[in-house]
Amino acid sequence: MPTLCKTVILAFTMGQFPLTLGRFIIQKQADTGATRELSGLLAQIGLVGKLIAQDLRRAGLINILGTTGEINVQGETVKKLDEIANETFLKAFHHSGLVCALASEEMEKPVLLPENWPQAKYMLLFDPLDGSSNTDCNMPLGTIFSVLKSEHKDRMPTEDELVRKGTEQVAAGYLLYGSSTMLVYTVGQGVHGFTLEPGIGEYLLSHEQIRMPARGKVYGVNEGNYHKWTTGMKKYVDDLKIQDKATGRPYSVRYSGCLVADVHRILLGGGIYLYPGELNKPEGKLRLLYEANPLAWVVEQAGGRASTGTMRILDVEAKQLHQRVPLIIGSAEDVRDAERHLQGQA
Ligand code: AHG
Ligand code: MN
Ligand code: MN
Repeated sequence: MPTLCKTVILAFTMGQFPLTLGRFIIQKQADTGATRELSGLLAQIGLVGKLIAQDLRRAGLINILGTTGEINVQGETVKKLDEIANETFLKAFHHSGLVCALASEEMEKPVLLPENWPQAKYMLLFDPLDGSSNTDCNMPLGTIFSVLKSEHKDRMPTEDELVRKGTEQVAAGYLLYGSSTMLVYTVGQGVHGFTLEPGIGEYLLSHEQIRMPARGKVYGVNEGNYHKWTTGMKKYVDDLKIQDKATGRPYSVRYSGCLVADVHRILLGGGIYLYPGELNKPEGKLRLLYEANPLAWVVEQAGGRASTGTMRILDVEAKQLHQRVPLIIGSAEDVRDAERHLQGQA
């Protein structure tokens, strides 16, 4: 019997009820003023995570690996699992009465929920499947979500009302499909992690109030892009390899091809992930609204830092739905070191 199941039984026998995601959110909502709808929304995201995890577990057996043959709004090849994960979100939220709008990395335009349905006040932006290059080789994958509040009760939001600064998020987090399925979220009162107990189909609290070390020992970056980087970026990564007892260097490389997995490692153990601007692509690769903003809030809530290299991610003025942004994220001291190099001050 899996250990976690034993933990659940032990908890029951000791008279404690295991702290499920639902119970924790309700307990915390008293502190945060989060509404029941927001709690319901987070629980529904948990359901989407279970459904996606189930598809990923069987992907090699039910012919859902590989690509659809389509190119998405990002100009990227769409994997079958990207599309399935996106559809799972649409089915889970379309008639839930929990949100009034959905915006996805996989959809050029947002989906506004049916007018003849309860007017929910939340808007959900998401990357349904992060790390898509990992789908066919059983490597880690994630889902990233960001929740905004609609300002209008009397009408549906317009697309530009979804394009907001990271500081306006009311909830954010991710699902990590790794050796276990985890849900990590923040509503601005710290960051908490839940592990899916497959035996009972519940997310149980496993990482309460996550805090990051000020400095780590790993860095995640695609070194294959080295020759596209600015001088400052090259110098920063070169310096990470030089012995320096004061900062614990050289650092080790940890880069999985999945932003969620790499950031999760850093959230728990410290370090830095970089997807910088390049000489001929200063905006970088990652998307502001449904990758950088939610992860930046999570990391800041755990005591870390998230920057474009020159400014705080959460303060970036959003201009369009699929806007890209350079992302330097992780332990506060590591990110500050990177900023000094990227700004030519080191
Ligand atoms: P997505 O699969 O949602 O497009 O995200 C992929 C992102 C991120 O998850 C990962 O860290 C990065 O792209 C990998 O990019 P490279 O393949 O260029 O290293
Ligand atoms: Mn992604
Ligand atoms: Mn994606």
